[in-house]
Order: sequence, then C-alpha cells, then structure tokens
Amino acid sequence: MDNNQVKTAIVLGANGFVGFGLAMGLSRAGYKVYGVIRQETYAQQLAQQEILPIIGDFEETSWTEKLGPIDVIVNASQSKKDVDIWVENLLNLVTKIAKKQTRKPLFIFTSGIYVYGDTGRTNEPDFHSVDEETPYNPLPSAAFRIKTVERLLASEDFYTSVVLPGMIYGRGQSYYGIYIKQAETSDKIVAHTPPETVWHGVHIDDVADAYVRIANLGEKAHGKKYNVAGDKYETIDEILRALVKHFGNRHEIVYVDPENKEAYLGLRVSIWVNSDKIRRELGWAPKKASFTDGVEEYVSAWRAYQTQNK
Ligand SMILES: NC(=O)c1ccc[n+]([C@@H]2O[C@H](COP(=O)([O-])OP(=O)(O)OC[C@H]3O[C@@H](n4cnc5c(N)ncnc54)[C@H](OP(=O)(O)O)[C@@H]3O)[C@@H](O)[C@H]2O)c1
Repeated sequence: MDNNQVKTAIVLGANGFVGFGLAMGLSRAGYKVYGVIRQETYAQQLAQQEILPIIGDFEETSWTEKLGPIDVIVNASQSKKDVDIWVENLLNLVTKIAKKQTRKPLFIFTSGIYVYGDTGRTNEPDFHSVDEETPYNPLPSAAFRIKTVERLLASEDFYTSVVLPGMIYGRGQSYYGIYIKQAETSDKIVAHTPPETVWHGVHIDDVADAYVRIANLGEKAHGKKYNVAGDKYETIDEILRALVKHFGNRHEIVYVDPENKEAYLGLRVSIWVNSDKIRRELGWAPKKASFTDGVEEYVSAWRAYQTQNK
C-alpha cells in the first residue's frame, strides 16, 4: 500500500468508454489512479479528472519501470483484432507489473455477459436468467475470455477477480447509441432483432461503484466473479418506445428479420442477468435510472458527447 493508506490503481484502456468511467469511479473513491492510454490526445481529458495519464502500449512496456507499488490493476481495454496477441501481451504486462513489487496486486478483469450466451426472449418458453453458477455458452466472439480467465486465475504473481457487466450505458456512450442516432436523424427506427429481445443494462457509474467495492476487497476478491446489472432488464421494444416517446411520438419502429443474422449477433443476443451475488456480498445496488426511465438525460448526454467528439 502507498503511504497514508491511499491505495493505488492502474486502469488499462483508460480512454475507452468503460475504462474512463472506472478510472473516474476509483478516483472518486479515493484511489490514486493511473490511466494507461496509447494516444497522447486523451491525456488532458484524464488529467482533468485527476487520473494520472501514462502513455504506453502492451508491447513496449518499459513505461512500467517507473511505476511504484500498485494495489489494483483494472483491465478495460480490448483489441478488436489479433485478440490472441492482445491476450498474451495483457498477461505479460500484468505479470511484469506484479513481479516488480513485493505485495501481490489484485487484477480485475472485465469480461462481459456474452460468455453466458443467449438466455431467450421474453416470449419464449425457455426464457431464463443467468447467475455466476450458470455454465458458460459463449458467443464465438467471447469464448477467448473464458480461457483467459483460467490462465489469470492460475497466476502466482497476482490475485484475479472477474466482472461481468451487462449492457453499459450513460455519460454519452453505449450500444444504445445505435438507436438514439436513428431517432435523432430519421423518422424511422430500424431494429434487426425481435421486439422481445432483452438488454439488461447497467449505468457506467454503477459499474464503477461495483469495481470500487471489489477493489476494496484486495486479495479477498481472488477467484470471485460478479455479474453487474441493473434492477430490471428492458426489451428492445421498451427501449425503442421510450425513445419514440422522448422524441415526440413521430417515429415508426420497424423490426427486420435479417437474412444474415450473424452480422447482427451482438445486437440480437438476448441476456437476462441475475446480479444478486454482488448485492448480497458487497452491498452493491444501482443508483442511476434504467435506460428507459432516464432516457431524457441519456439522450442529452449522447448528443453532447457526439458534438464534443465530432
Ligand atoms: N460497452 C459495454 O456495454 C460493455 C459491457 C460489458 C463489458 N464490456 C467490456 O469492456 C471492455 C471495454 O469496452 P469499451 O466499450 O470501453 O470499449 P472501447 O470504448 O472501444 O475501449 C477500448 C479500449 O481498449 C483499448 N485498446 C484497443 N486495442 C488495444 C490494444 N491492442 N492494446 C491495448 N489497448 C487497446 C482502446 O485504446 P485505443 O483508443 O488506443 O484504441 C480503448 O482504451 C471490453 O472488454 C468490453 O467487452 C463493455
């Protein structure tokens, strides 16, 4: 631990939607936070939020040599290509940081609910929720996460905890933006998934609160995995109707059954998440409104984010 009991965290991917939210949450909770970014352009945005920017990538890791002791390493980065190489680099990086110090740090790996696979739609007889004991049935794009977690847990150099957040929204970014954009720019909203598809959302601020609670556990978090999702799931139809109402009831909603379903897999997957464990064990509960209940502020934030990041 650092002097005067201030704990230190390092967030990998600190300029990303999730990483920036987690870094801000850890900072607000009293952590000294380093944010690792690959591009200098994000440094000021981090520094303004009292996150110490470190420009560094996962291949050339000499930047780690200047680091002091770290209590918590959070991964919120993910490569969209060459995932196997990225995983190797991530493991080497975390090991390198951990080996430099006498106390083992806690590594919090951001996974996602896609490892559970589809849990059915609200109108289907086998519609069910998933908890941490439910066997994985991953989407192809998420399978690597399961193997990665096994390797992380086997490490003797650091402790590992795994977080599986639902569909994250808030602060201007999210997959919900796909539909907000259509509502903003057209009189028609097209969804390539049935109306009964479930998105189980959670606000980025609440996700950050969950990570802080896990980080505070230190080594006691080792081996634990936590689902993190809002109080209720929402169907695509509920989400789109909330948007239509917000925009003055002028939109037509069109549901398309695409021929190439694989191309829309990420948007079509329907997952109902049970997050009782983190509520029970760590006293976590979401504070922010669900997407449909807070649609006014979430659309406003999305618009502001788009304007600022043109
Ligand atoms: N968004 C959600 O609803 C959600 C829900 C559950 C779980 N997650 C998980 O959370 C993680 C982050 O998601 P996100 O939505 O925040 O994505 P994002 O906004 O695209 O951020 C991705 C981050 O990863 C970094 N990155 C990309 N390729 C990299 C590489 N080869 N080496 C090092 N860093 C690299 C990016 O840096 P550059 O900007 O330099 O490329 C960026 O900081 C992902 O694992 C995602 O699956 C997201």
